[in-house]
Amino acid sequence: MRKNIVAGNWKMNNDLSQTETLLTAIKQQTQTTNAEVMVAPTFVNLYPAVNTLKESNVEVIAQNMHFAANGAYTGEISATMLKSVGIETVILGHSERRAYFNETDELLAKKVDAALENGIRIIFCFGEELADRKANNQETIVKSQIANALFHLEASAFNNIILAYEPVWAIGTGETASPEQAQDMHQFIRQTLEDKYNSEVANNVSILYGGSVKPANAKEIFSKPDVDGGLIGGASLKADDFFAIVNAF
Ligand code: 13P
Repeated sequence: MRKNIVAGNWKMNNDLSQTETLLTAIKQQTQTTNAEVMVAPTFVNLYPAVNTLKESNVEVIAQNMHFAANGAYTGEISATMLKSVGIETVILGHSERRAYFNETDELLAKKVDAALENGIRIIFCFGEELADRKANNQETIVKSQIANALFHLEASAFNNIILAYEPVWAIGTGETASPEQAQDMHQFIRQTLEDKYNSEVANNVSILYGGSVKPANAKEIFSKPDVDGGLIGGASLKADDFFAIVNAF
């Protein structure tokens, strides 16, 4: 069964004391919610965050990981390292990783495999750039990003995959996809999964929208039938805004 999920992607923001302050505020506000709530602090703050959020219903998740189990990959973090500090979910394929760190579909397929082999759930991100949208190529781009990184998997793998549609032109720009644009794409994604696998996979996968979700627009976006929640950047850095979005469900 698909779930409602709101995940905060903090990106490269918040040092240790800012992390503790924000998590304490978040912990106080999430006693009862109608959505699964997750936050993704930066790597160095994952372990303290897991400890701070013990006995809360907020999950701490990672923003990235390497595909290898260990070895000579200076600066990288493996799935087993994440697991060893209590992390069970990782964001993969964020457009900033694709754009600034040259993460390709091929590399992402390897990361996907490594996460699943280690029992780590994935929030898999994808989305078109503005030029693709202007050329009306968004569906072709999104389909190829999903197919190239995920379609080698068995249907059962989708029990551990959450999808996040994040149109690049809407990230950090203040420009949001309209609720109709989000719905159209999410419906297309479900259809793509049904065509490749079956209707069970298509109907059970949670598909999040990301890109300038704010308290003012969350309710309308989340009300769309194929939108199961949000991946939130800027607005997840303020506890009140993040909670207004969580409570949009
Ligand atoms: P903004 O909410 O800041 O647009 O960021 C979205 C995002 O990239 C979440 O992963």
